[in-house]
Amino acid sequence: MAASTPLKVVVFLGTVKENRLGLRVARFVMAQLEKTGHDATLFDPADKKLPLLEKAAFFYREGEEKPAVLAEMEQQVRAADAYIVVSGEYNHSIPPALANMMDYFGGSCYAYKPSGIVCYSPGIYGGMRAAMQLRCFLGELGCLSVSNIFGIPRVHQALGEDGSPIDSHMESGAEKLIKDLDWHAHAMRNHRQTAGKPT
Ligand SMILES: Cc1cc2nc3c(=O)[nH]c(=O)nc-3n(C[C@H](O)[C@H](O)[C@H](O)COP(=O)(O)O)c2cc1C
Repeated sequence: MAASTPLKVVVFLGTVKENRLGLRVARFVMAQLEKTGHDATLFDPADKKLPLLEKAAFFYREGEEKPAVLAEMEQQVRAADAYIVVSGEYNHSIPPALANMMDYFGGSCYAYKPSGIVCYSPGIYGGMRAAMQLRCFLGELGCLSVSNIFGIPRVHQALGEDGSPIDSHMESGAEKLIKDLDWHAHAMRNHRQTAGKPT
């Protein structure tokens, strides 16, 4: 599958847990996006080290200096055409590291762009219950999630530590999601460019 023109995609990884399984999912997703020619950036909360939210990017006044990492991330979220969230499931819900990182940026950055959900768990449900909550969360941010959800049950058996897939189902599953996201992101980007955003 080739994209007509590359999309800028920010991939949010939702875990800082020790021995986190999500890192292998993020590595896999990044490889799939790069394979399809997209310009993907990974936001790993363990690298970004944003603290528990005290001040969101959109609460800084004009001229007030933001931490450099926050300013750079905000610019990347704003410039993105689409988002992918890589989410485990904590108490059937959204992992706190994911919500904390995404909460830093306001609807003006995310709005009128699509998002895709990649969820996983070591169990048989593949994080699907968190995915249902993510649909509401992403809708509230303005980046509605596309219909396809890529759920990965038994993730520790599906992907190696470096993100390499154990079987071809992984690649075909990711391809379906990326195609769905690609279609929506191009349609929305075209419309943003020709019609602008509602004021
Ligand atoms: C606080 C907490 C709550 C969890 N709740 C769930 C759950 O509701 N459903 C599930 O399938 N796994 C649950 N798990 C197990 C996680 O799926 C498992 O630890 C997985 O490795 C988490 O992803 P991560 O390693 O990328 O952080 C939970 C783990 C933690 C730490």
